[in-house]
Amino acid sequence: MKVYLDTADLGFIEYAFDKHPDVAGVTTNPSLIKKAAGKDFSVKKLDSYITQILEIAGEGNPVSLEVTARDKDGIVRQANNLFNKYNDIAGNVVIKVPVNPYTNGKSSLDGLLAAKELHEVGIPVNMTLIFTVYQALVSAEFAEVAMVSPFAGRIDDYLRQKEGIEFQKSDYYPANGVLGPNGYPISDNGIVSGVHLVYDIARIFKKKGLPTKVLAASIRNPRQALEVAAAGADIATLPPSVFEEYSTKGKAVVIEIPTQEIDQRFYTLPTNRNIPTNYIAHPKTEEGIEKFTKDIIPEWEAICNGELN
Ligand code: E4P
Repeated sequence: MKVYLDTADLGFIEYAFDKHPDVAGVTTNPSLIKKAAGKDFSVKKLDSYITQILEIAGEGNPVSLEVTARDKDGIVRQANNLFNKYNDIAGNVVIKVPVNPYTNGKSSLDGLLAAKELHEVGIPVNMTLIFTVYQALVSAEFAEVAMVSPFAGRIDDYLRQKEGIEFQKSDYYPANGVLGPNGYPISDNGIVSGVHLVYDIARIFKKKGLPTKVLAASIRNPRQALEVAAAGADIATLPPSVFEEYSTKGKAVVIEIPTQEIDQRFYTLPTNRNIPTNYIAHPKTEEGIEKFTKDIIPEWEAICNGELN
C-alpha cells in the first residue's frame, strides 16, 4: 500500500518528502487549505503555496486539489482551470470531486456526471466523500475515475454516533465492528466499520478488474492505516500525526487481519445506466460537503475560478 500525506501544510510536506522518500502523494481539501493558509493569505501567496506543494511532491506523486463548485458545469470549469494552471508544474494534479454534490439542498448526480466528462478529456479525478460501496462502484464504472476516497474514520464516527457511543477522534474502532443492543454489529448499508467499507470496495474492484485505485481516507490512527492495507487499499492518505506514528512505529503495532472475519458481500450495478439518485446519496456525504463548503476560503475559490488577481 502506498502512503500519501493528508495535509496542505507546506512545512510538513517538505519535511515528510525529505525524510521519507517512499511518500507517494498528497491529498488536500478546502478545510485543510483553510487550516494551512491561516490569516493574511493573498490569492497570489496561496497560488505560490500550491505551486510549491506540487513541486515538492514531484512527478509521479499525485496531489489532489478539490473543487469548490457544486454543479456539474461549475465543477468541470474549475477542474479545467486547476488542471491547466498547475499540471504543467510536475504533471501530478488530480482533481478531487465530491461524489454527490447537491445544489440548493437537493441531492444530485453532478459530481459523477462532471467526473465522467473530466475522464473523457483526460483529467484524473479523485472521487471523494465516499461512504458506500455503491458510490465507489458507480464512480469507477460509470465515471471511470482514477481513484475513490472512502472515508474510513467518518464511517466509524457515524456508526458510533448511531448508538450514542462516546469517542475521541483518534480512537480505534474495531474493523469487525461493535455489537449493538440487538446482538448484531452496528452497521450502515451492511458496512460495520471504515475498514470494512475499504475492504468491500477493494474486493469488488478486484473481482471486476476495475483500474480505479482505492485511496483510504479519513484515517485516524496507525492501526487503522495498517488494517486498510490488509483490507486491500491501494493507498492510504495519512494526516501528519498518524503519518508520524505509522512511519516510525506503525509497523510494530499488532493487528488482527480482518480479511477472514468480515462479512463478504456482492454488489451489482444496474445494467442500464439510469443511476438511482437515492442510492448515491448518503447523509455523511452531504454533511461532508456542507462542512467543506463552510471552510472554503475566498482565496481558494478565486484560484478554482481562475481569478488570480
Ligand atoms: C482526504 O481525502 C480527506 O479529505 C480526509 O482524509 C478527511 O479526514 P477527516 O475525516 O479526518 O476530516
